[in-house]
Amino acid sequence: PLVDSKAMLIYAMENKFAIGAFNANNMEIAQAIVEAAEEEKAPVIVQISQGAIEYAGENCLFSIVKSLADKASVPVVCHLDHGVDFNTVIKALKAGFTSLMFDGSSLPFEENVRITKKLAEIAHAAGVPLEGEIGKVPDAAKGPLSPEEVQKYLTTPEEAKEFCEKTGVDSLAVSVGSAHRMKVQSARLDIERIAKIKEKVKVPLVLHGASGVLDESVVEAIKAGISKINFATELNKAFTNALRQKLTSDPDLVDVRKYGAVARENVKRIVREKINLLNSAGKA
Ligand code: G3H
Ligand code: ZN
Repeated sequence: PLVDSKAMLIYAMENKFAIGAFNANNMEIAQAIVEAAEEEKAPVIVQISQGAIEYAGENCLFSIVKSLADKASVPVVCHLDHGVDFNTVIKALKAGFTSLMFDGSSLPFEENVRITKKLAEIAHAAGVPLEGEIGKVPDAAKGPLSPEEVQKYLTTPEEAKEFCEKTGVDSLAVSVGSAHRMKVQSARLDIERIAKIKEKVKVPLVLHGASGVLDESVVEAIKAGISKINFATELNKAFTNALRQKLTSDPDLVDVRKYGAVARENVKRIVREKINLLNSAGKA
């Protein structure tokens, strides 16, 4: 069924595993995520980014996730990932999303607090939880970041505590050594920092940019207190690589369903792997 993320994330936090939050940009990826969760008996978050909404529309993507969730025996959340505009968060809430994120990490601290707090109040009035972000998970889309660059965006335990107290967020995205859109798995996380943030913050902690993080670092991060882990690039890569290979090996192929199914199967394989890495298999 379609559920909200509040109890799911608290359950993961209390039981020391993490919920996989997987980005869906189209129907095939959404299907792959829910099918993988179903086969692994795992609670799961399907997330739709602001960019995905701009690509496909919030109602279209929500309808796909909802229809898959309604049929699923495992709990499925439809989460807005990186809402950077106030209005996008409101649009997602209106569309029926059962979990929201406002990402004000590019704003000055007080401005981030002000908008996050406002959106938390609105979301809570509708019974929907809100994720916030403090510190900033940087973007490695244009190439690898230097350790100094990653360093300057890291979340401090003090600002994390103050941010949560001032905003009332239900979960918190923190910057602990990962970066968005890394195509190779090479990042190592600042595990000590996660543990220190965890001591000061009561809400579940979220790791973004997990596609580029080494498996052993992901496992340590969960032990240190991370409860939700986001993967987007790994799924996009799995979809695209399978598609590219299929079209190259069969240049006459024009049936969308034939190559769509191949790409979908490959995404499903990756999601199942990640669910096992996060130890959320069998937790539904
Ligand atoms: O919000 C989505 C995730 O943080 C994406 O991270 O680019 O490493 O897959 P990724
Ligand atoms: Zn992210």
